[in-house]
Amino acid sequence: MFANRVTALLGVEIPIVQAPMGYIARSPLAAAVSNAGAMGIIETSSGELDAVREEIRRMRNLTDRPFGVNIAQNLVRDDSIVDFVVGNGVRFVTTSAGDPNRFTARLKDADLTVFHVVPSLRAALKAVDAGVDGLVVEGSEGGGFKNPKDVSTMVLLPLVASRVDVPIIAAGGFVDGRTMAAALALGAEGVQMGTRMVATAESPIHDNWKQAIVAAPETGTVLLNRHAAPAVRVLRTELAETYEFDTTRNAMEAMARHRDLYFAGDLTAGLPFAGQVSGRIDAIRPVAEVIDECARDCLDVIADLARRYPPA
Ligand SMILES: Cc1cc2nc3c(=O)[nH]c(=O)nc-3n(C[C@H](O)[C@H](O)[C@H](O)COP(=O)(O)O)c2cc1C
Repeated sequence: MFANRVTALLGVEIPIVQAPMGYIARSPLAAAVSNAGAMGIIETSSGELDAVREEIRRMRNLTDRPFGVNIAQNLVRDDSIVDFVVGNGVRFVTTSAGDPNRFTARLKDADLTVFHVVPSLRAALKAVDAGVDGLVVEGSEGGGFKNPKDVSTMVLLPLVASRVDVPIIAAGGFVDGRTMAAALALGAEGVQMGTRMVATAESPIHDNWKQAIVAAPETGTVLLNRHAAPAVRVLRTELAETYEFDTTRNAMEAMARHRDLYFAGDLTAGLPFAGQVSGRIDAIRPVAEVIDECARDCLDVIADLARRYPPA
């Protein structure tokens, strides 16, 4: 269905990547994504490397399909995770939040496929120079950690695609077949989904966060910390609004009780990361259903466009 460089390099049928998300991107979710023919990813941004190692081991029992690991460089202090990833049969790695020169050569020497996450053209060109196999190009409408100098996917994706030859996975605002088709039209060969994957049945976090995404309108998120690093897009809760225009505090201080947010469902205990695409998510659904429908609808949109606008 999707014969391109992303499906070939990742060894998957459907070019959808489940986003790396601290505590969320773990084996129950990642295995469901890989078993549905797409690419499940295990996170390291929680910094809980012992738990991460265990999750990677668990994946072997939950799927025989390819899966990947994200190395969130600014949050991973212990370099030995690279050797662990290499030594445990992981073939695909995305690196993010740091210099692409830090791990790319080591991972490539071990014959892994490496994509680097970039929020700007400058970062994209630097990653290509570092020798990555591909890029995850991330627009600012996405949830989670963001470039404070925000650029939307609609602008950033075709710009980067016009300047690099490596394959691109687009991130930020992708949720269904129509947006997936748009990503392919803008120069990508796959999409990465975060918020959509948070609001799935297999996502291991508390239902209150998932329901808050379902209830959120398209205006229901806010980009915080433009004045401090990291900038982060979160649901527009009462707590989040106290940080919106306050440049004297770093919003990440509000994540001190994050476990109560993630696992006890207390939305006042931290800032629930989510993207603007929350406004287009109207139900919590099983992963396989989401991926299957995205793939079919994407091809339907492309076929419909070809029918309506046949080449002259
Ligand atoms: C709940 C949540 C947590 C996230 N955590 C991380 C993270 O730890 N590391 C990272 O590189 N990106 C993180 N992201 C960003 C995603 O990797 C992804 O690029 C983004 O969600 C794509 O946009 P979307 O939310 O519109 O799908 C997170 C996103 C969400 C929604």
